[in-house]
Amino acid sequence: MSTVSVQLGPRSYDIHVGRGLLDSLGSTLSKLTGGRYALVVTDESVAPHYGERTRESLVHAGFQTDQAVMPPGESTKSLEHLSSLFDLLVDRHADRRSVVVALGGGVIGDLAGFAAATYARGVPFFQVPTTLLSMVDSSVGGKVAVDHPRAKNMIGAFHQPL
Ligand SMILES: NC(=O)c1ccc[n+]([C@@H]2O[C@H](COP(=O)([O-])OP(=O)(O)OC[C@H]3O[C@@H](n4cnc5c(N)ncnc54)[C@H](O)[C@@H]3O)[C@@H](O)[C@H]2O)c1
Repeated sequence: MSTVSVQLGPRSYDIHVGRGLLDSLGSTLSKLTGGRYALVVTDESVAPHYGERTRESLVHAGFQTDQAVMPPGESTKSLEHLSSLFDLLVDRHADRRSVVVALGGGVIGDLAGFAAATYARGVPFFQVPTTLLSMVDSSVGGKVAVDHPRAKNMIGAFHQPL
């Protein structure tokens, strides 16, 4: 595994690059958060490939977890889908020890990241990018957003991942 450290003072984080890292997601998150609940946000194209391995890794590390499986595509970066994530977080009594995990491409990373930036005024956020664009671009830098119906990325925040 290679690690790239992003130095941002108290918001610094590490990027882990390597094969098979998904299986250590739970133990990595457990060390970082000590938390008990993880909401995994993913989409219908990604979930069949990586959803179960992600769940197993989190459960093995002691997390309670849910998966919010969104339709694939840019239209998922909407206030409507954001609201469905807030509903789930409220239902589960998620708090600042909970973590939101984005398992997908840039659409899922931006949506899940904005949910994490705004729910309870900010909860921890972790990125598991599954497209090349999301690996090298959108998962790095902390820009998160949903689209306004008339303006892309217009409702957003800066929220660095763990
Ligand atoms: N936050 C930022 O700094 C930043 C930077 C660049 C782009 N973006 C945003 O990223 C989005 C585009 O991201 P994207 O190109 O990753 O698109 P995407 O997230 O829509 O993914 C593209 C397609 O690939 C599928 N997919 C994802 N991973 C897969 C896998 N491993 N195997 C098979 N299919 C897979 C998805 O279901 C989707 O249908 C845009 O909304 C853009 O605004 C954000």
